[in-house]
Amino acid sequence: MAYNVNDFDSLDVINSDRDHVWHHLTQHKPFEKTGSMVIVKGEGVKVWDAKGNEYLDAVSGAVWTVNVGYGRTEIADAVRDQLVTMNYFAQTAGNVPAAQFSKQLIDKMPGMSRVYFSNSGSEANEKAFKIVRQIAHKKYGGKKTKILYRDRDYHGTTIATLSATGQFERRNQYGPFVPDFVEVPHCCEYRAQADAAGKDYGIWAADQIEKVILAEGPETVGAICLEPITAGGGVIEPPAGYWPRVQEICKKYDVLLHIDEVVCGLGRTGKWFGYQHFGIQPDIVTMAKGVASGYAAISCTVTTEAVFDAFKEDDDARMGYFRDISTFGGCTAGPAAALVNMEIIENESLLENAQTQGDYLKAKLQDLKTKHTLIGDVRGKGLLVGLELVMDRQSKTPVDESVIVAIAGHCMANGVIIGRTNRSFKEFNNTICLAPALTYTKENVDQLVTALDDAIADVAKKMAEETRSIA
Ligand SMILES: Cc1ncc(COP(=O)(O)O)c(C=O)c1O
Repeated sequence: MAYNVNDFDSLDVINSDRDHVWHHLTQHKPFEKTGSMVIVKGEGVKVWDAKGNEYLDAVSGAVWTVNVGYGRTEIADAVRDQLVTMNYFAQTAGNVPAAQFSKQLIDKMPGMSRVYFSNSGSEANEKAFKIVRQIAHKKYGGKKTKILYRDRDYHGTTIATLSATGQFERRNQYGPFVPDFVEVPHCCEYRAQADAAGKDYGIWAADQIEKVILAEGPETVGAICLEPITAGGGVIEPPAGYWPRVQEICKKYDVLLHIDEVVCGLGRTGKWFGYQHFGIQPDIVTMAKGVASGYAAISCTVTTEAVFDAFKEDDDARMGYFRDISTFGGCTAGPAAALVNMEIIENESLLENAQTQGDYLKAKLQDLKTKHTLIGDVRGKGLLVGLELVMDRQSKTPVDESVIVAIAGHCMANGVIIGRTNRSFKEFNNTICLAPALTYTKENVDQLVTALDDAIADVAKKMAEETRSIA
């Protein structure tokens, strides 16, 4: 049976999905009878499910990926042409789209030099960890193997990347973890640690990294891996002063700075990369989701020439190079899609649009904050925006995860898909996450904010009724 994208029986698909597909991050019990939502079509910033319902997508494919929106025939055409011309040959050799995309990408990343391809954000981060560990063996007698990560950051789903993840609920039950990954404190000013009271928070939070390095021994710490703006951990932009101080600390202790741009990369925050807002120069940058906006699987681990050079030194010519491979990495649909994706971002001025619509969205959410006391904090950059909900603004007691689930359900019933911190922390699954396509218009923002307004009003009303009935 040949597959025909336009020829299927909706009920049959829903039933096959219900009976055979194991969904990601999903407790299946509630869907045993009904089945889950099956998405059958996307166009621009809208998607449709198998039952014919239309949705405005405010999280770019649920996990902040489809930066240039759905239905881009120019990307699909490039991928098709590439596949019929040359679908696969391992990255032990070169190929046309990988070479061309690498050049284009490096043009956008002054100070960076080399691109190593793989297929997912987790894999890109794993490659970075392997690079750091191998440098520790090559240059530092096997000592600088420790990799620091930050409380609340997420770096992936494999055991090593979970070992580098500061989210309890994502890690829970998957240990034991890989040794030599060490956590540093978060830098969420809204939830500033008690010790930081009265201090310049950006500097204080960065200095906690120095404390950890000193406690571990600088001779043992090879790298620190950080999201430029924490995404799934609740949309946390580090406060002013944080990044330059982090860079200073890294230089002081010869610690490589690895920035995880899996969410922020490719325009999401209004610049090509999130770190470019903060005037810092990383040693390693990883990226995935928006690189090809989900039209093909691709991720990149980008390094400076200095990092790359370490692997050319023939300390042991048989073993000294980077002995890593990823069967599908860089071959060939991914870079072909990425080339056109990047061209679209440039031609349609999507960096500027992300900034403009992001500012508009945040302003409208600040208006909502004056109306709904459940909203404790509105934050983010470009089209990466978070709304942290609290029981009351004085105590900042987080709302229960069920409140966020109810708001997301209400929005969905009104045709808008929003995101949320999803089983990340025990008490802090209280943030609504918004990361729409960079093509969003003012009208899209208005529809999204109206849906949020209705949902928060409805849920707040129900919470008040419940409180009254208990009293
Ligand atoms: C910051 C960050 N890094 C890494 C990953 C892992 O990427 P992937 O799911 O493609 O492996 C994610 C996924 O959400 C992420 O948000």
